[in-house]
Amino acid sequence: MKDAAPSTPQAVRLEDYTPWSHVVDRVQLTFRLDPRATRVISRLSLEPNPAGPQGRRMFLHGEGLTLIRASIDGRAVTPDLTPDGLYCDVPEGPFTWECEVEIAPEGNTALEGLYMSNGMYCTQCEAEGFRKITYYPDRPDVMAPFDVRVESAMPVLLSNGNPGATGTLADGTPWVEWHDPWPKPSYLFALVAGDLRAHSDRFTTASDRDVALNIWVRPGDEDRCAYAMDALKRSMAWDEQVYGREYDLDVFNIVAVDDFNMGAMENKGLNIFNSKYVLASPQTATDRDYELIEGIIAHEYFHNWTGNRITCRDWFQLCLKEGLTVFRDQQFSGDQRSVPVKRIEDVLQLRARQFREDNGPLAHPVRPSSYIEINNFYTATVYEKGAEVIGMLKLLVGDAQYAEALALYFDRHDGDAATIEDWLAVFEDVTKRDLRQFSRWYTQAGTPRLSVEETFDAGTYTLRFRQRTPPTPGQAEKLPQVIPIAVGLLAPDGSEVVPTTVLEMTQEEQSFSFDGLAARPVPSLLRGFSAPVILDRASDAAERAFLLAHDTDAFNRWEAGRSLAKEVLLRMVGDNAPPSADYLAALDQVLADDTLDPAFRALVLQLPSEDDIAQSLHDNGTTPDPTAIHIARDALAHAQAEALAPKLPALFDAMTRPGPYTPDAEAAGCRALRHIALSLLTRLDGGDRAAQEFDRADNMTEELGALGLLIRAGRGTDPVARFAERWGHDRLVMDKWFQLQVNMAPPEQAVTRAETLAQRPDFDWKNPNKFRALIGGLAANAAGFHDPSGAGYRFVGEWLSRLDKVNPQTTARMTTVFETWPRYDADRQDMIRETLTRIANTPDLSRDTAEMVSRILG
Ligand code: ARG
Ligand code: ZN
Repeated sequence: MKDAAPSTPQAVRLEDYTPWSHVVDRVQLTFRLDPRATRVISRLSLEPNPAGPQGRRMFLHGEGLTLIRASIDGRAVTPDLTPDGLYCDVPEGPFTWECEVEIAPEGNTALEGLYMSNGMYCTQCEAEGFRKITYYPDRPDVMAPFDVRVESAMPVLLSNGNPGATGTLADGTPWVEWHDPWPKPSYLFALVAGDLRAHSDRFTTASDRDVALNIWVRPGDEDRCAYAMDALKRSMAWDEQVYGREYDLDVFNIVAVDDFNMGAMENKGLNIFNSKYVLASPQTATDRDYELIEGIIAHEYFHNWTGNRITCRDWFQLCLKEGLTVFRDQQFSGDQRSVPVKRIEDVLQLRARQFREDNGPLAHPVRPSSYIEINNFYTATVYEKGAEVIGMLKLLVGDAQYAEALALYFDRHDGDAATIEDWLAVFEDVTKRDLRQFSRWYTQAGTPRLSVEETFDAGTYTLRFRQRTPPTPGQAEKLPQVIPIAVGLLAPDGSEVVPTTVLEMTQEEQSFSFDGLAARPVPSLLRGFSAPVILDRASDAAERAFLLAHDTDAFNRWEAGRSLAKEVLLRMVGDNAPPSADYLAALDQVLADDTLDPAFRALVLQLPSEDDIAQSLHDNGTTPDPTAIHIARDALAHAQAEALAPKLPALFDAMTRPGPYTPDAEAAGCRALRHIALSLLTRLDGGDRAAQEFDRADNMTEELGALGLLIRAGRGTDPVARFAERWGHDRLVMDKWFQLQVNMAPPEQAVTRAETLAQRPDFDWKNPNKFRALIGGLAANAAGFHDPSGAGYRFVGEWLSRLDKVNPQTTARMTTVFETWPRYDADRQDMIRETLTRIANTPDLSRDTAEMVSRILG
């Protein structure tokens, strides 16, 4: 059946949901591991589902399996095999299904199901990988307790739940058993076998459960687990304190794997991580890596309640677990570090990834209503916009009712496979609000544009807002959404006359008034970025500079500086205007203000990305020229350097902290500001100071930071070689090396650089991290990728066609580098479409990539 014709891709639709015909009461799995011929025996206790379709036939998913035998209640049966599973006649009442299949993990380069990475066995089952392990109703609404037995000579054998018996087979093969008492869908199944070492610790829960914690890594990596372990323990304590959620098994295992399509996976009691989000030492990991490790460890841990104990009825409900879990991990990171700094970083990400998606051909609702390949919907919209929707809900109902609603959600739906309707019903029941209009945030795609006009008359200040959401694929008309607009008003002297108030906009056009004001106020709108919208507001540079200096809302203070920088840049690109002196003076003030958090100051000094400027130009009806944008941004950075020059050396010194590296937010903030000072100084001294820094750096944050600046300054050759000598043995550090060289290369050299690097024997392109580092690194060099010759498009396109043969999921994800094509000029559009068409015509293209390319082409 391996040679069976592939099924023609068919869209799955939310409206077609039907429960499964049966209920699984128990799952017993036995694995006899072998790289080329693993045997999987599955025994399922089944009974008819009173809520499902009745009948004497059942369907089980299965892909790429060799069926050895199958039986029902001990009697052999011959099911009808199809390309995506099997049908079998079944008895009327309860029965036991058993089957044995053979699979070959060694040849599994797609990294879905059971596969091998550096000699170890591991699994990735979300979303639909379990069907590549055995025949099963591989859908999230089928939940069952699992007992797993693993037979293998590998020293460490892990699965979900609590450890059980161990023993040895007659032929000497060791086996171990694992029992997971919590009913779970198959996508949360996991198995790991390998020569692994543990970094271990313990955690006592609020109700005194003693939990063994282990982070499993390859020998030699044990000393890089301390930070992840610390983050795990802080996450466990935080979820108890803030959400009242305790851990529910005797062990919590995390495994680091080098070959992984995504960041990490929340399998029950056995989280599997991309090793780059676990392993860290000061010498090998940057501040950004530490921050990501903390956030992702928390994210996967928090899934234990939001995702595992309460899961999704179907994959359309993905945001039910992902949006909520992202929201929770963002809250956690804010609490651990700095709430405003975290919020700014999250909004930067949201705009860079989700707004970009929402404003292009791939726009889709937070809860999509149809898909061909669900793996293509693990998107910034489902995750990040899904989290924003929860943030808005919390803002609208207030903290106390949010807490009540969450308590009810856990109480009412524990053990369920739930829907967005269930989630909203909990809030409606607690708050007595009607959330039907609010639910449009889940069903309407596109980023709403919010415009505002203001009047001041006899002490009354009126804001008149108008909302409009542009059409998106398949959704021409949009209805007005509920938009919480957090507003504060400042008096001309900078004092706050109206503290933060949340205006609840529900109409297409709506006015809000404030009385009794002595003078026309300066409004601070959308404080804390209270809704994921684009605010169009004509305001002069002086007012933005005023807000940058006086706003009490840290987010909007930053936002004022940001929009100022953007306006300056847009004028520099469009009219060749000189950099604005007002803007530079405002920066000068922020820089010198020691009362401001260094991390915050670093964010204010950071310029908008080239992609961000391109999107803004497009929004204003101008065709962006990536080269012109690059030149303008460089010119503004240079002007920053010159204007701030007198203060930079002292700032650099002030941010240089004595003592060894520590990864905490405060120290990281100083390094971030120090790096910006160094970056600006490099524009003035040609890289002398960066060269010294590269020599003396004793941590990866500073070493890599200096290396990037030297590459940008055209002095990279020698340090790049020295870095490779020093770190050639370290795969994670070398990923950074590949990435940085194309990312920081002058645009006209970026493609050649990438081509040369792709020839290296250590460019292990089948490893998703390496592929993303080099190919994704080029795409992130906007002016290099969009080189007028089209060489960047062709290079990336050829690599995507090649990768599709081995790893459809990562290929499909990376096609999004082309999603912005409608922004560009006719020549570039033609070249990108040609590249996409060539990918589409690749023989045997995966349905993952086929779906993406056809959506991008529209
Ligand atoms: N649930 C995981 C997370 O967000 C993501 C795994 C998705 N994997 C996939 N192949 N679609 O933590
Ligand atoms: Zn998640």
